[in-house]
Amino acid sequence: MSELITAQQVNELVDRFYARLVEDDYFHHLFSQRGVDIDLLKERQRAFIARIVNPASSQERQGEVGQVRERHHFGISREGSERWFAHMTDAVGEMELEPKSKQALLQKIQYLLKKMLEQPKEAN
Ligand code: HEM
Repeated sequence: MSELITAQQVNELVDRFYARLVEDDYFHHLFSQRGVDIDLLKERQRAFIARIVNPASSQERQGEVGQVRERHHFGISREGSERWFAHMTDAVGEMELEPKSKQALLQKIQYLLKKMLEQPKEAN
């Protein structure tokens, strides 16, 4: 997936996605419970998405899996991941992007989500 999504489009996607997440009671509750700073989260998410849309070596891809696992040590439920992905799919769907870019991005995210769900849940 090389440069199929510009930095500006990544920003737009993250804005659209988080506008949806904060309106969803499930995430609203999760974010307030964890005292999450949404602006900071969006900034990190922008950097992360910008990274995953660029071509990565298999070593870098391993790094991404490690990163998402580490940053979600509180444990992601199947329900949470399905809701998260549904909002992401809607946000991507609203964007003016090549169908193959949309597909590649969603596939990549789905792969990461699958890896996250495989991680053992930490007792917290
Ligand atoms: C492939 C899918 C996902 C990606 C790429 C992703 C990416 C990220 C990134 C980059 C951060 C910022 C981490 C940091 O502070 O450096 C983050 C934080 C967070 N994510 Fe995700 N995420 C994904 C799925 C999910 C899901 C499914 C949930 C909830 C069910 C979730 C909930 C959260 C929460 C609550 C935080 C804030 C953690 C905290 O500061 O306590 N994420 N995510």
